[in-house]
Amino acid sequence: MKCETLFRSGDHRWLVFGQDPDRPANVIDTNQYVICNGANAMMLDPGGLEVFPPMMASLTHEVALEEIRAIFLSHQDPDIGSSLPLWRRICPPDVKIYLSTLWSGFLSHFDRGAQFTTIPDEGMEVLLGSDLRLRFIPAHYLHSSGNFNVYDPAARILFSGDLGAALIPESARTGTMFVTDFNAHIPFMDGFHRRWMGSTRARDAWLAAVSKLDIDILAPQHGLLFQGDDVKRFLDWLAGLDIGSGVAAMQR
Ligand SMILES: [Fe+2]
Ligand SMILES: [Fe+2]
Repeated sequence: MKCETLFRSGDHRWLVFGQDPDRPANVIDTNQYVICNGANAMMLDPGGLEVFPPMMASLTHEVALEEIRAIFLSHQDPDIGSSLPLWRRICPPDVKIYLSTLWSGFLSHFDRGAQFTTIPDEGMEVLLGSDLRLRFIPAHYLHSSGNFNVYDPAARILFSGDLGAALIPESARTGTMFVTDFNAHIPFMDGFHRRWMGSTRARDAWLAAVSKLDIDILAPQHGLLFQGDDVKRFLDWLAGLDIGSGVAAMQR
């Protein structure tokens, strides 16, 4: 599995893991992120059961398992955190697991021994190490009804979960982790956003909140990352998109 450093300032780092060449073709590709502040690390959406072996192998090149203090789950999907019981076996026993208050009883179906620190609907701020403040920003209904992003104001990175996600066919992969041609990238995210994102009110509220943030990199859980001017291009594109396309199938 590939690993790239997205940000580094002293011992504050952001790492992305993904584009595993050995991934079975029927398992959707995911990006896993790790934020490090000194000897304290937080994993963001550690992934499904199927990516656990390559993810652990790549991660341990960069971060010692005993440094993993927290695991953040943006929502309930299996590609987000069905690996949770495996991570809990190898991470420190007091690792914090952050998750929407809506989903803790449901994720216990993956891992009945997990103790969740639940995130209230309005979000919350947490400390990683003694001095890195991270914000869990609500992104409800985009697509999950209890859903959060992670913003790091020092790194100016927004982990956006399934917002910004793209399904890139094998033939279009260039090996880069970043969008390099926004217009050429649109077809890979268009159908996903139209069908999976259901609420225009939620979309507009999210855009209003996120447009106040300084964002150098917008980092989704699938597909390529957006940086620089492509961040605004993505937000503008999403603002004009006709979402909730599944409703049409109910009106026949
Ligand atoms: Fe999802
Ligand atoms: Fe996803």
